[in-house]
Amino acid sequence: MYDLSMEKSKAERKYLILTYGCQMNVSDSEVLAGYLEGMGYSAVKNEEEADILIINTCAIRKKAEEKVYSRLGMLRELKKNKPGMIIALWGCLAQHEGIARKIKERFKFIDLVSGPNALERFPELLEKAGSAGKTVFDLNLLGERESLPVKRNDGFKAWVPISHGCNNFCSYCVVPYVRGPEISRLPEKILNETKELIKNGFKEVTLLGQNVNSYGKDLKQKIDFADLLRTLDQLDNNSLRIRFMTSHPKDFSEKVIRTIAEGKNICEHIHLPLQSGSDRILKEMNRRYNREFYWKIIEKIRTIIPNSSITTDIIVGFPGEDEEDFALTMEMVERVRFDAAFTFIYSPRKGTKAAEKRNQVLPEVKRERIIKLNKKQNRINLEKNQSLLGSIQEVLVEGKSKTDINMYTGRTRTNKIVHFPCTENLTGKFINIKIKEIRTWNLIGIID
Ligand code: 5AD
Ligand code: SF4
Repeated sequence: MYDLSMEKSKAERKYLILTYGCQMNVSDSEVLAGYLEGMGYSAVKNEEEADILIINTCAIRKKAEEKVYSRLGMLRELKKNKPGMIIALWGCLAQHEGIARKIKERFKFIDLVSGPNALERFPELLEKAGSAGKTVFDLNLLGERESLPVKRNDGFKAWVPISHGCNNFCSYCVVPYVRGPEISRLPEKILNETKELIKNGFKEVTLLGQNVNSYGKDLKQKIDFADLLRTLDQLDNNSLRIRFMTSHPKDFSEKVIRTIAEGKNICEHIHLPLQSGSDRILKEMNRRYNREFYWKIIEKIRTIIPNSSITTDIIVGFPGEDEEDFALTMEMVERVRFDAAFTFIYSPRKGTKAAEKRNQVLPEVKRERIIKLNKKQNRINLEKNQSLLGSIQEVLVEGKSKTDINMYTGRTRTNKIVHFPCTENLTGKFINIKIKEIRTWNLIGIID
């Protein structure tokens, strides 16, 4: 006979979600947590305590994939000792048909393999996974994404997806294959979610999409990203910050720049991936802009929003990138003077066009180039930050500093990290900080 007393009471059931990769994954994990909390599970911090462990994976580069394998390797033993535990592989890696099947073969103990587009089906998948006795798979690329529960990580900063998927097929990128075609959320849904967040005291909303600038193109009603930004900006007077990412240069309009300039709440920070400074490589990457087009956007941003910060993503070692192409990237970095750059070594991803190319760049050449690029950008970071010395910056406090227990950490509207000494817990509050010291990656100040 089945002994009910053997079943853990709801309050005792524990879950842990490990999230890798981008903010879209963080946002998806908040939905998974929303479901689990709704089912009576409570969050724990370590794997040994969890009855359900979800690994929300990233497929963007090989390194992200390898991190997951090493984690799974460690979990094999845990599952042996705790056979009732459910281990689910979620996210972009799990959604990649070829990789997911390989993982299933290698790590037979995984109970569920599924990805972002199955979020609405999560409760039924979980139930199946608990009783199937074999790995449950759902790699369907289509799924409804509205009215999902969300358990947000903190009470003042929120991720709000405005679109899912991507239609761009940049030749190096796996995202369109694992997250499917671009689908914009209805504006009224985004508006209602934001209104609710403001009502609940949230201070910052980051609008998420792989290419926020093409928002609305697939909708029946006539609305673009600038219209959406303006509408959201009007929801609050000045106790909210609105951020957004990621922007694609090919769709970045002057209307958006003017909307940021005119908005009260829209932060003056634009993350605009350049990827390469060489027109030849940009063409091979299928980015659909050239360096002059990119430079014109930068000029417009700096003319219309003079106090803005601009950050970027750059890939070195794309197949066929020669010394001349790399020199053009270095030259563009010097010309634009980004506030910061995320730099990546090109990583071939199975299924993408660039991975098939024969003219892959040697690993040591890639390494050499990224070192040179980082050196240049670090100097520029520091020089750009220098101009803030002595200024007073409004900072939204994010919590205690991770490295110094006497310090708190916050961010400026331009997304610069600021550390400052403080004894009172000001997390979630806006506060003015006078900048006293400059570093490459952050600023040090005192409360003004
Ligand atoms: N290799 C290296 N970097 C990549 N990115 C995307 N795909 C790859 C890849 N295959 C980078 C791009 C993108 C950022 C999120 O990751 O610069 O903007
Ligand atoms: Fe990938 Fe390009 Fe889409 Fe960005 S825009 S997610 S780099 S395909």
